[in-house]
Parts: sequence; structure tokens; C-alpha cells
Amino acid sequence: MNIDLDALVQQNIKNLKAYKVEDLQEGIKLHANENPYAPPEELIEAFQARLGQFALNRYPDPECRRLKQAIAQRTGRPEDHLVIGNGSDELIQLLLQIFCGPGDAIVFPDPTFAMYSLIARGMGLTPVPVPLDEHWDFKARDLLAAAETHRARLVFLSYPNNPTGNCFSRAEIQTVVEQFSGIVVLDEAYHDFARQSFISEMDAHNNLVVLRSLSKIGLAGLRVGYAVADPKVVAEINKVRLPYNSNTVSQAFAEQLLREFSPVERQIDVILKERERLAGELKDLGRLTVFPSDSNFILFRVDGDGRSLFEALMAGGVLVRDLSAHPRLNHCLRVTVGTREENDQFLAQVRKALA
Ligand SMILES: Cc1ncc(COP(=O)(O)O)c(C=O)c1O
Repeated sequence: MNIDLDALVQQNIKNLKAYKVEDLQEGIKLHANENPYAPPEELIEAFQARLGQFALNRYPDPECRRLKQAIAQRTGRPEDHLVIGNGSDELIQLLLQIFCGPGDAIVFPDPTFAMYSLIARGMGLTPVPVPLDEHWDFKARDLLAAAETHRARLVFLSYPNNPTGNCFSRAEIQTVVEQFSGIVVLDEAYHDFARQSFISEMDAHNNLVVLRSLSKIGLAGLRVGYAVADPKVVAEINKVRLPYNSNTVSQAFAEQLLREFSPVERQIDVILKERERLAGELKDLGRLTVFPSDSNFILFRVDGDGRSLFEALMAGGVLVRDLSAHPRLNHCLRVTVGTREENDQFLAQVRKALA
């Protein structure tokens, strides 16, 4: 049998392009907003000692009980308000699956994290971007108007926002949460760098879902994210979530990292200091517009050709993210804050390329 595979594929899937990030075999990777520091040595050692005790021939705990206990302790939210995802990406997909039917709309400020739109389109939904203003902020009335016009089921707010780096105005978010009669997903993937959150609003608003990720604080390779939500939402997610979506090793390591968090806090403090230094040095070059960041990355616009700078950096062994495909992000690059040495090498390459 040799069938026409193309003819079988759904049109909305055919129209998509696979999410692709450029990679570099050797060199400095400042393109994916990861933590440049490995998990603390003592944690790795303690974990190695435990490895033999894992029953890897058994399925993982489908409820992720111990990990949820650790998250409950850190967030102050009870365990029945928590769901673990294989990265927070998975939770975005599950939320769309639960709350949206074919053709339904979702609203988000734009530019923002590309996966909201990409996952929605893959599910036959209608993404409705609402342009951010020149400060990369939005007005609740515009977002609410778009949501009403398109009868949106969900609003996604990245807080802080990727790729612009900033936190949107708290008051505007608050208005959306209070007035939107659908689900508001507050994606707090970069919470640890902004140290601001909407979790405290959850008792008053059952339409609020907060997403968090461990990818930005050292465990990108283990794929651990979680949602904090009303227990009714949690129950719905648990119906569609694959039973063993979080593996044994990821659960155990994430639990340990969250229980002994102070070394990670120290890494975050260093990253925040480096972010300020990096932003200052980029501004001093005088040829770049550097946007304020509450995250572990910095967005900047090149006064000149952004793609050429991206390629020059790549040739010099430094990978950043080229965002210029987005019409609002012409000549814009995004750099993740690395270690001091990585940042110095990045800065040296930028200076060389702009000279
Ligand atoms: C805003 C935002 N949300 C979610 C994610 C996905 O994170 P995870 O690795 O937990 O799937 C990212 C990753 O870049 C992100 O920037």
C-alpha cells in the first residue's frame, strides 16, 4: 500500500510549521532562556546516591504526590489545586483542549510566547492577538473588547512576557481577571526572576490559572511545569492528562530542588545582577535599543540589520534568538543572561560585529 499521506493530514496541521529553534553544537547558548548554571553540586550528589532506589521498572506516581507536596509548601496552595505537566507547554495544550472546541477563539497580547498561537492553531482554534503598545503593555479594555468580539474562551498573559521581558501593568491584569468571564491563564514561567505573582488572587477568582515552569531555573532537561488552579479545573485537567505524563526521575529531582531551594535562589541573584550589568553594557554601545526586563533575558533592537548581527554572533560561537520574523520585532534579538564569562564573550562578539 502506498497512500497519499498528504491528503489524510488535517488542513490546520498542514498549515503549521514545526516549532524550530536554531542550535549550535559547540559554543554559547543564549537563545532558550535556560539557567546557565547546572543544579547545585550537592543536589546532584544526593540524587546520584538515590538513583538506585528508584523503581524504574514501575510506572511513575501518576498523582506526583511528593512533588505536589513540595510545590504546596513553596506556593502556599493546597495540593488539590495543583497539576504537574511535562513542561508547562503541556499544560497550555491541556487547558486549550478542555476549554475550547473547534473554531473557538483565544486572546493574548502580541508579541508574546509563540506556543499559545501554535498549539491553538494545531487544534483548529482561532488565535486573536491584541497588539501591545510601545511600552509592551496593554489596556484591559482592548483585551476585553477583543475577547467579547470573538467570544474568546481563554486569555493568555505571560507574566513577565516572553519575548519582551517586562511584566504587564498589574492593574490591567487585575481588571481582566475581574471582568473576563472565561479562563485567564497567567503564565508565570519567569516568576523566579520577577518575584511577582498573581497566585494570591486565586481565592477570589476561580477563573484564574497560574502556570509555572522549572525550565528557567535549572531543570529544562527534565521537563517539569505545574498549574495552580481551582480544584474543578484541576479535576478536568486530570481527565485529559496522560496518566504518566511526569516521569519518576523528573518528579524526584524537581521535588528535591524545590525543597532545598536556597542554592537556586543564589543562582537567581547572580543572574539578576548579571542582567543589570549586561543591559547597561548593551545600552552603552549606543547602537541598540535595550528594553527593560523582569526576566532572565533581554530584548534589544539593532539600529541596523538585526539578522546580520545574529549571523555574526553565530559565526563567533554565540547563539541568541532572532525575533525579526515578527512584524513588531524587526531587527530585534533576544539574549538570555548567561554566566559572567558567557555574557562577556557575547558582549565582545557584539562589539566586534558592530565595530
Ligand atoms: C512564557 C513561557 N511559557 C511557557 C514556556 C514553556 O516552558 P516549559 O519548558 O515549562 O514547557 C516558556 C518557555 O520558553 C515560556 O517562555
